[in-house]
Amino acid sequence: MYWDKLSHDEITERITEALDQNMSYKTKKILGIPASYLDEEQFYDDAPFLDDAPFLATLIANPNHIGCHTLNEDSEPFFKGTQQLEMELIKLCAEEILGGKSDEQDGYVAPGGTEANIQALWIYRNYFVKEFGALNNQVAVVYSQDSHYSMPKGANLLNIPSIVLKVDENTRMIVQNDLEEQINSAKQKGIKHFIVVMNMSTTMFGSVDDINRITSFFTENDLNFKLHADGAFGGFIYPFTNSANSYNFNNEYISSFTLDGHKMLQSPYGTGIFIIRKGLMEYALTEEARYVQGKDYTICGSRSGANAVSVWMILKIHGSEGLKTKMRILTDKAKSLCKRLEKLGVEFYHNPYINIITIREKYISKTLAKKYALVPDEHTHPKWYKIVVMHHVKQGVLDEFIQDLKSEIT
Ligand SMILES: Cc1ncc(COP(=O)(O)O)c(C=O)c1O
Repeated sequence: MYWDKLSHDEITERITEALDQNMSYKTKKILGIPASYLDEEQFYDDAPFLDDAPFLATLIANPNHIGCHTLNEDSEPFFKGTQQLEMELIKLCAEEILGGKSDEQDGYVAPGGTEANIQALWIYRNYFVKEFGALNNQVAVVYSQDSHYSMPKGANLLNIPSIVLKVDENTRMIVQNDLEEQINSAKQKGIKHFIVVMNMSTTMFGSVDDINRITSFFTENDLNFKLHADGAFGGFIYPFTNSANSYNFNNEYISSFTLDGHKMLQSPYGTGIFIIRKGLMEYALTEEARYVQGKDYTICGSRSGANAVSVWMILKIHGSEGLKTKMRILTDKAKSLCKRLEKLGVEFYHNPYINIITIREKYISKTLAKKYALVPDEHTHPKWYKIVVMHHVKQGVLDEFIQDLKSEIT
């Protein structure tokens, strides 16, 4: 993984150039599009600071990135400049962060991890229907009980069944017996095709599914499957803190990834990222999107180009080495907190490459949970509370938390 950092001035110059290549609602004769620059009364574009604030300038110019630009060179021509930046962003994530081969992946900036996950399910459901004549009830989504709720949401929308696999209470790894039993029973019920979702970190525990063991089971049993990796939480940390992992495009079984800029990268909400091997995005083509040049392959349709620009800027201002350091700071802080919990005899779950620490409920009083805004696994009968060591989490606050915890439990 390597890409250079750019200076603030270089970034501003590239984005200004990109905006110049877009059709401007201000200067061009644009009669056919149901959109414009942002409302001038509120978002005036003659504020002097905008020259030096490329994200805000893009937001105000309001480019629409509808469609999937990596797929279609001829997609909507009006916003070519900023769409080019989105293509660069997808290429950088696919090739530098996820180890893909040059120009062999498609993708787009989605509203969030939820859409990116559902986009994957949608593509694979259609793939099994089109290529194997599958009926909806012959295609199942397979995921662990610790997976994000976008999986059941997606299965519900797509009208396909879910197979939810048990995890071990302590290791949070999928239980092999349960996998074998549930898949065998699904086969007997007529399920022939499997959409397997593996977590490149779960939301609550930061656990990373043992992907090699799971794919071995599916290949050894000659099962027809497609695999999506959900890196909405871990995608912008795990590859930076653990370079020798199996979650990348060198793993032939992974067809697609979700990453979320609006978590670890600190980009604005609206920056989910969906990336998939070439040849598959086409299964989400909506032919009827006739008025959109290049058609549409996404769930959301219209989306702001400013979101793509924001992630591009963040990746470029830090460069790969800057981000490695930034993410290491988070995992170092998390590890140091774990050592102190161990000393206190507090039970917790922690993956050393991820910045989540999940503590058993019996150690956390309601007062402590409230004071530090800890998040429970469920609000009615919590069994666990998590701490996510994000960039705003200062050492002093962690120290204070440990002091409070110590005085409560000793
Ligand atoms: C593992 C995982 N997948 C998917 C999502 C959904 O992301 P979003 O809230 O951006 O839709 C999350 C959000 O926390 C997540 O942690």
